[in-house]
Amino acid sequence: MTLQDVRTVGVVGCGLMGSGIAEVCARAGFQVIVREVNEDLLRKGLDRIRASMAKAVERGKLAAAEMEAAWGRIRGTLRMEDFAACDLVIEAVVEDMPTKKQVFAELDRICPPHAVLASNTSSLSITELGSVTRRPEKVIGFHFFNPVPVMPLLEIVIGLQTAEETVALGRALAERLNKTVVISKDRPGFIVNRLLIPYLLDAIRLLEEGVATMEDIDTAIRLGLNHPMGPFTLMDFVGLDTLLFIADAMFEEFKDPRYAAPPLLRRMVAAGWLGRKSGKGFYTYAA
Ligand code: 3HC
Repeated sequence: MTLQDVRTVGVVGCGLMGSGIAEVCARAGFQVIVREVNEDLLRKGLDRIRASMAKAVERGKLAAAEMEAAWGRIRGTLRMEDFAACDLVIEAVVEDMPTKKQVFAELDRICPPHAVLASNTSSLSITELGSVTRRPEKVIGFHFFNPVPVMPLLEIVIGLQTAEETVALGRALAERLNKTVVISKDRPGFIVNRLLIPYLLDAIRLLEEGVATMEDIDTAIRLGLNHPMGPFTLMDFVGLDTLLFIADAMFEEFKDPRYAAPPLLRRMVAAGWLGRKSGKGFYTYAA
């Protein structure tokens, strides 16, 4: 199957990443079916898509008529069965292997045999996800970056059994979405998170050692390295629960202390301090 055969894209999960992926696919002209587990999460996810597209119109990145056309191509659902209509499904649920495996097994049962199944996982094994399907050659990693409509990278992750044809479809999709591709083998964290996660965890260690305040660490990285966000602002932006999931998954595989979550991170997540999305993380955010 090539990208020309893809009419309808399914997105599993309409959280921060799923909503962004649904938005860019609809803006690129695909019919999109996006699924959440309950009405409340679905409504919040669809509201996020609409707000993001409205911002794109405001910034002159999208014509108002194109926004309405893209919006008209998105359909929300609570039923996995609706993915029977999809040629490509991108999974963006919580970063937890048992949950993702269950999603992939269900997608394999529901989707037509030609459909490609992709995961937006940021650290977990694509080969392992493929192993619960009867089509491991059609299973691939499409790792998008937050905010999806703005970040120009697509990290494509190739499992041991992923076919060349599936990779070619990924490259063509990236071109349609106006993203630049990098290719990574199936190793925890791939390219970006292999480097990003130890850096973010070290920022927490620096804070815990009392070397500097978090404000000064953020300022140092913004002004000293020209990063758009310092590490604490970025962690709040990504979500501390997501960061902890990724760190734990990487530590589980490598058993390398560089990926071990500092105790403060685990306690903040336990307290529900998840970053911007919960109103409090390292910083506090107005509602
Ligand atoms: N649609 C399209 N374009 C949009 C948009 C939208 N919804 N919202 C904003 N934009 C455009 C703006 O027009 C602007 O474009 P311009 O530079 O051509 O004018 C550009 O995006 C920047 O937008 P803003 O001016 O509103 O915002 P900032 O300049 O404050 O930048 C930011 C915001 C892009 C989030 C920037 O702070 C940034 O790049 N931060 C770092 C983000 C990052 O590192 N993300 C990756 C996280 S890691 C990850 O996702 C992987 C996971 O596995 C952990």
